[in-house]
Amino acid sequence: LKNILVTGANGQLGTEIKELAKQLKDKNFLFHDVDTLDITDPAAMEAFGKENNYDFVINCAAYTAVDKAEEDQETAALINTYAVQNLIELASQKNACFIHVSTDYVFDGTNHTPYKERDKTKPNSVYGETKLKGEDIANNYEKSIIIRTSWLYSSFGNNFVKTMLRLGAEKSNLNVIFDQVGTPTYARDLASAILNIIDFISDKGIVPAGVYHYSNEGVCSWYDFAREIMEQKEFSCKVAPIETSQYPTPAKRPHYSVLNKGKIKQTFNLEIPYWKDSLKECLNILN
Ligand SMILES: NC(=O)c1ccc[n+]([C@@H]2O[C@H](COP(=O)([O-])OP(=O)(O)OC[C@H]3O[C@@H](n4cnc5c(N)ncnc54)[C@H](OP(=O)(O)O)[C@@H]3O)[C@@H](O)[C@H]2O)c1
Repeated sequence: LKNILVTGANGQLGTEIKELAKQLKDKNFLFHDVDTLDITDPAAMEAFGKENNYDFVINCAAYTAVDKAEEDQETAALINTYAVQNLIELASQKNACFIHVSTDYVFDGTNHTPYKERDKTKPNSVYGETKLKGEDIANNYEKSIIIRTSWLYSSFGNNFVKTMLRLGAEKSNLNVIFDQVGTPTYARDLASAILNIIDFISDKGIVPAGVYHYSNEGVCSWYDFAREIMEQKEFSCKVAPIETSQYPTPAKRPHYSVLNKGKIKQTFNLEIPYWKDSLKECLNILN
């Protein structure tokens, strides 16, 4: 029986892991969020390590408010960067494998082909910067698996899909950005991939440490994503494409952040669902 600690367990990804965990008998989960385990509190983290056993630590905790981070740099850094030191210390106390989640926003978006793990990072935003520095800290531990993902959504929490469902039901017209291209990721698929990775590592007894990219398959703009949501829901709301410059936000986002997932698929023998199929699954749950 493997013991798995999940931090930030009430967020989108953490909640999806909880959902999948309900069906698993071969794993024992310890789910904690900031109220019971604050990853920025070194003393609390150390005490937790002394009192508990775990073979894996999955960090789903993060400061994810991308625009707010531009003015709240300190809090974003505390959670996305410095807390990672506490997490690797917690993992190393038990020689546990550390699975850390990062973001496509570590890239500046000037690529024309899907980003590989070794491509040059250059964040455009405070959020991206704090997450990249968090990766650097995670990389100091020899049992760290860092998974960069993009455009995460879930039936839990707030996200683009939930916003589009609300606006699509209320409005007859909607403008959505078409010059930011990437891939949506259903958090349940990422949760399932992480659990498969844990099985792989448990079976093989080795940790293929390093950075990996994971999103759903395919490519779209936010505009296409919105169109697909309206179509699947049979909403009559008309979606029009606009440019980023017509929808200014405090944080600058990459224009292109499609991730190449060859490494994670090959290393862990994963199959990744197509984004439209996963969207359908999520919308079914929300119905
Ligand atoms: N969302 C996206 O579009 C996206 C895209 C790419 C990558 N990612 C990455 O994917 C991962 C999961 O994202 P998500 O969307 O599931 O995030 P989320 O829904 O915002 O969940 C993060 C969770 O962490 C908790 N948390 C905050 N500070 C904490 C602390 N000091 N100690 C313990 N827990 C704390 C949050 O609690 P509160 O809500 O109370 O603050 C929340 O429950 C993150 O690493 C994120 O950077 C996300």
